[in-house]
Amino acid sequence: MSQDWVARSLKSVWHPCTQMQHHETVPLIPVSHGRGVWLYDHDGKRYFDAISSWWVNLFGHANPRINAALKDQLDMLEHAMLAGFTHEPVIQLSEQLSDMTGNVLGHAFYASDGASAVEIALKMSFHAWRNGGQADKQEFVCLEGSYHGETIGALAVTDVALFKDAYGPLLRAARTVSSPDARNAREGETAQDVARRAAADVERLFEERAGKIAAIIIEPLVQCATGMAMHDPLYLKLVRELCDRHQVHMIVDEIAVGCGRTGTFFACEQAAIWPDFLCLSKGISGGYLPLSLVLTRDEVYQAFYSTDVRRGFLHSHSYTGNPLACRAALATLAIFREDDVLNRNRTRAERLSAALAPLASHERVKNFRQRGMIWAFDAVEPDAARASTFSRRFFASALDNELLLRPIGRTVYLMPPYVLSDDDIDGLAARTRTVFESVITA
Ligand SMILES: Cc1ncc(COP(=O)(O)O)c(C=O)c1O
Repeated sequence: MSQDWVARSLKSVWHPCTQMQHHETVPLIPVSHGRGVWLYDHDGKRYFDAISSWWVNLFGHANPRINAALKDQLDMLEHAMLAGFTHEPVIQLSEQLSDMTGNVLGHAFYASDGASAVEIALKMSFHAWRNGGQADKQEFVCLEGSYHGETIGALAVTDVALFKDAYGPLLRAARTVSSPDARNAREGETAQDVARRAAADVERLFEERAGKIAAIIIEPLVQCATGMAMHDPLYLKLVRELCDRHQVHMIVDEIAVGCGRTGTFFACEQAAIWPDFLCLSKGISGGYLPLSLVLTRDEVYQAFYSTDVRRGFLHSHSYTGNPLACRAALATLAIFREDDVLNRNRTRAERLSAALAPLASHERVKNFRQRGMIWAFDAVEPDAARASTFSRRFFASALDNELLLRPIGRTVYLMPPYVLSDDDIDGLAARTRTVFESVITA
């Protein structure tokens, strides 16, 4: 059964972020259904979804409460355009999210994928300055090792050569500042020292050309896509101060790290700051439907409010604010409230960290790190040829051990759903150790 689906898929589906030729050797798994932390193929083989299907799934596959909310919504309203119309799910979601920021970020603008939210934040920032008479503020600043998505605008503020180089001529250059990645600590330095050093880099740039800069965009606390680079919250506090002092917008991209992933609902809560724009996607719909949004301050909203249509934000997507996606998000937020998820995740995280301790101290592991519900470590693989195939070998071995784990280069990471039982946690740690040992010694 499975093999038939694989053959048909390879003939007709162009898979994302994939050199399709690799599927001559790398397995393609046809998923039949999912339940909780498990995905099942057509032959009944199961895989522990330890990366939450690209970091989107929060409360397991086929979650009964999100399913029920969606079934109810299906019979009410599947979709209606959001220009000139509005509906309960989008209103309630906007109100709840604004409340969760203490109403500092008072308006929500919707799209579908993460990259679209990034495009919106960049356009809004530029346009808000322009409406305020500062049309020269046109530049964007991003961090070394940043990742904000694959559309042309988002790719321009992404610092991953592999994704970016082929499209170089199409992209508007952004300014790149050093990453506060705690792994950059020099002898005797703490993570906070690295944060201060990286913030000083931002300060130098702002002093030189803040008059030309619209915004700095940051993945707060964890730069996920380029290898789970973690930094101290102090960095966000310092950049917030610099943005205030130099009149530069702060965009935080919480597409990967929002929705409780770092331990607080929003990552920036750990720095006690709010940005001017906050991008959210992935987990907000519980991993059910494409939904993204940008929360922004009322000052920004007011900069567009006018009798002149051209001063408005004339951006749209057909499925903006889709009621089904918003309803899935409301069900997701209800689970956070009703199940005390953030507190229970602290207990889960302690148990998983303890279970992973033998890996943390393994001689072929360095930089073991954890924040909230993210764990990562870098494999030591001195042989260059083996290092270059580490990720693919690990993925294949993980599948053999009923595990869905896809390292980024030599960085192995876990980003499991928030429904782990004690048995799930112990099993996940044991499988990860088995796979690591087999890949490192094979
Ligand atoms: C921080 C961050 N921003 C933006 C994106 C892009 O989101 P999407 O893939 O939904 O376009 C991602 C995706 O991984 C991400 O991690």
